[in-house]
Amino acid sequence: MSRHIIESQQFSQSFITTFFELVARIKKLNATDAGRASLSLLLAGKILINFFYEESTRTRVSFNMAAQILGMKVIETTNAAIFSSAAKGESLSDTLRVLSGYRPDIIVLRHKDEGSAKRAAAICDARGTGVSLINAGDGTGQHPSQALIDLYTIYEKLGHLDNLHIVVVGDLLFGRTTHSLVYLLSLYPGVRFTFVSPPQLAMKSGILEHLDEHKVPWTATDDLSTVVGDADVVYMTRTQWERLFVGMQGLAGFLYSMSGSAYRFLKRRELRKYSAKCRLTDTLAQTMKPGAIILHPMPILDEIERPPVDTLQQAVYFDQSDNGIPVRIALLLHVLGHDIQL
Ligand code: NCD
Repeated sequence: MSRHIIESQQFSQSFITTFFELVARIKKLNATDAGRASLSLLLAGKILINFFYEESTRTRVSFNMAAQILGMKVIETTNAAIFSSAAKGESLSDTLRVLSGYRPDIIVLRHKDEGSAKRAAAICDARGTGVSLINAGDGTGQHPSQALIDLYTIYEKLGHLDNLHIVVVGDLLFGRTTHSLVYLLSLYPGVRFTFVSPPQLAMKSGILEHLDEHKVPWTATDDLSTVVGDADVVYMTRTQWERLFVGMQGLAGFLYSMSGSAYRFLKRRELRKYSAKCRLTDTLAQTMKPGAIILHPMPILDEIERPPVDTLQQAVYFDQSDNGIPVRIALLLHVLGHDIQL
């Protein structure tokens, strides 16, 4: 049975503990030429297909690079919505049937539809070619490899994952990285969340229900200034403008279809008003605890005041993006069952 990486709920606390030990070892190896030489033998001859229907910088490049560090061969299709047969009308399921029939070892998929990764993995399984599928972002669903990077960074910087106050800020409705991270952090005792967003972009109800079911405390506000001083982790995200008007139903959808740009303009103006209260300004960041950290999955737009916040010791988002390489190396080894070798 192939190992797929689809959603954060598939990971247990004990898996994460062992996985992070592997990441730490890989990080050391990857820092030296001799270490890189030994890593390059581990998956030599294996093949990874990077199939991205949506834009990406970090996820696409770091999966590609992680694979090449392990000696894999990589086939890239960027902007698959335009440069693959999807542009001619081919369904995702036919494309996946074809790709898995070629028998790569891993397919890394990013697609605009929530649930697409799960469907794609089922198609790979049905073909019986042993391909592993990794979800690199399924629309407004999840982004589990990013969540492992975020969680590892918290662990590395703070030394523990329990008893933390996590403040998650921005577009919590559409921001898939926040969904995956909340599921992971909810595994740890004493974790509590504050969700900071404009009311229109509040955290997805399914995730709040999950927290309630698991008795994880949470609150919500639209004003970052009221909670930032008490945070251990401030997880900033951008507004997902490109998703805002997709699939709108009812009156909003009707208005948008009737007068798209005017509606869009009004909506943006209204959102910007709220977003100002969710912005991490230098003045606000100065009120954070000295040992707290600021994370961001990137890209960063104007939700953080830069450059001043970049210079604070709490701002660790570039260390977080650096962790993309060792975490994804560990993930590739894990899905191919080679994690015990190191
Ligand atoms: C995120 C994504 O694609 O969900 N980017 C990433 O992979 N680091 C965040 C975003 O696009 O805002």
